[in-house]
Amino acid sequence: MQYVEINVTVNGELYNKTVPANKTLLRFLREDLFLNGVKEGCNEGECGAFTVLVDGEPMNSCLVLAAELNGREVLTVEGLAQDGRLHPLQEAFIEAGAIQCGYCTPGMLMSAVALLNRYPHPTRAQIRKEMEGNICRCTGYTRIADAVLLAVEKMDTAEKNQSPQRNQKVLAGTKK
Ligand code: FES
Repeated sequence: MQYVEINVTVNGELYNKTVPANKTLLRFLREDLFLNGVKEGCNEGECGAFTVLVDGEPMNSCLVLAAELNGREVLTVEGLAQDGRLHPLQEAFIEAGAIQCGYCTPGMLMSAVALLNRYPHPTRAQIRKEMEGNICRCTGYTRIADAVLLAVEKMDTAEKNQSPQRNQKVLAGTKK
């Protein structure tokens, strides 16, 4: 068995690990880092449950080798919440009833993050198109699209509410 040393940043933390050359990113995340949010589904890159972001782009963690991740940044569902607060997409999935068994949810959330990075104000059709690689056997897709649109509203509201504060800070800085 061949082993490879990698330096990879996962959810903002840098890890130095030695991994078998044939170990997938999915198995590395689950077995070495105990990040079990990422799910093993079909193991063929078809179901979307395995989706994580690598350098901001959605990736099939079941088809990528951990050895290829040297020097790269991975974001998993465990890295979405900040300061103990759920990401607006996570809140919206709960509020819109877009979760039933939850098996698809981490992958759905990561694909939704990538979608909103690309289209901050997506149409329903864009949501369906961009997330068609994520399969949900429970909810149907209407509530998932509803949740993404609700998250956009939440993020817009948060941004509006933050703007005056930001302006105040700038003004305060200017006065000094
Ligand atoms: S909530 Fe069960 S597969 Fe999507």
